[in-house]
Amino acid sequence: MTYKTLDDMGDIRGKRVLVREDLNVPLSEAKVTDDTRLRAAVPTVAELSDKGAIVLVLAHIGRPKVPSPEFSTALVTKPFEAVLGRPVQYIDWENGPKAVAALQPGDVALLENTRFFGGEEKNDPAVIDRFAALGDLYVNDAFSAAHRAHASTEGLAHRLPAFAGRQMEAELAALGKALGNPEHPVAAVVGGAKVSTKLDVLTHLVTKVDHLIIGGGMANTFLAARGVNVGKSLCEHDLTGTAEQILEAADRANCTVHLPYDVVVATEFRPNPPTRIVNVHEVGADEMILDVGPAATEALADVLKTCRTLVWNGPLGAFETAPFDAATVSLARTAAALTREGSLVSVAGGGDTVAALNQAGVADDFTFVSTAGGAFLEWMEGKELPGVAALNR
Ligand code: 3PG
Repeated sequence: MTYKTLDDMGDIRGKRVLVREDLNVPLSEAKVTDDTRLRAAVPTVAELSDKGAIVLVLAHIGRPKVPSPEFSTALVTKPFEAVLGRPVQYIDWENGPKAVAALQPGDVALLENTRFFGGEEKNDPAVIDRFAALGDLYVNDAFSAAHRAHASTEGLAHRLPAFAGRQMEAELAALGKALGNPEHPVAAVVGGAKVSTKLDVLTHLVTKVDHLIIGGGMANTFLAARGVNVGKSLCEHDLTGTAEQILEAADRANCTVHLPYDVVVATEFRPNPPTRIVNVHEVGADEMILDVGPAATEALADVLKTCRTLVWNGPLGAFETAPFDAATVSLARTAAALTREGSLVSVAGGGDTVAALNQAGVADDFTFVSTAGGAFLEWMEGKELPGVAALNR
């Protein structure tokens, strides 16, 4: 994959640079509750501003059906200004061209939600024109929105000279190292509640990795496919046939699938209920599997010790509810320690995953933690992301 970066932009002093960032941060009562994505946007925006460009940030918030204040980028302007450490001017679409014309080299402005135009998500040429008229150059720094072929994430790259921003570059480099051309053996941890949301991920991964570690609710469907009685556990019984096919494909590809053989069970799903640690064949009819057991977790740690590369998406248990975070926290700490020692390249992504790594206190020890949710999954499915493809020379 070859694409131009900020290093290829030449002299940009006084040039108007449209920068697509992903500032789609979680908001509660109009307050930002996690500013990771705002911080990820800083290196590119600061560098362009330092080089004297007029920096025009394009971003979306949420999935508005019609323009409305609760989806306005005005809500993130001050928080972005705080992490950027320099003034950011909010510009609405009505005043767009006039306000942009008044900006000086080095100024940074945040334009209103791109999705306030119905045509943004349809990659409508009229909306691309409207954005393109504001800038001379285009930078896409929003890897986490690159699975969308929208006007601001894809269309603009064909209309203006296009470059990858620093966060985009970092994501592509790390993800390439993890699945593009990784050092083997490669392990993937895939967890989460449902197999149905990750069928394509699993099908793709069995052809790419040496060890596939399946956890979370989705592991129950695989256990059921292997004839285990999973009691009252979350389980997609209609997908056991599909799970079997994935296990067969893994066999053919020489990929070892790791399912838990001991598990933590409870009859109620609430914080700190009475629990039992049992072999998977001993789950009671009224019990739910809520985490991977300690023996299986230790065996998984031994697997990671033999690996050079790890890709992680999704928790191993119901990690938001104590004590069902134990396996996720323990394996994440093992991965972090191996990474620190230099024996493992570890890449993680997806909303729940990042929250789980933060809970384990190890997010900073992983080689790379992606800011992407949906885009990370599509990348793990082996799909080409339109926003990335459009940057290719
Ligand atoms: C995300 O939060 O994953 C990105 O900002 C993309 O948002 P979307 O799923 O609404 O397109």
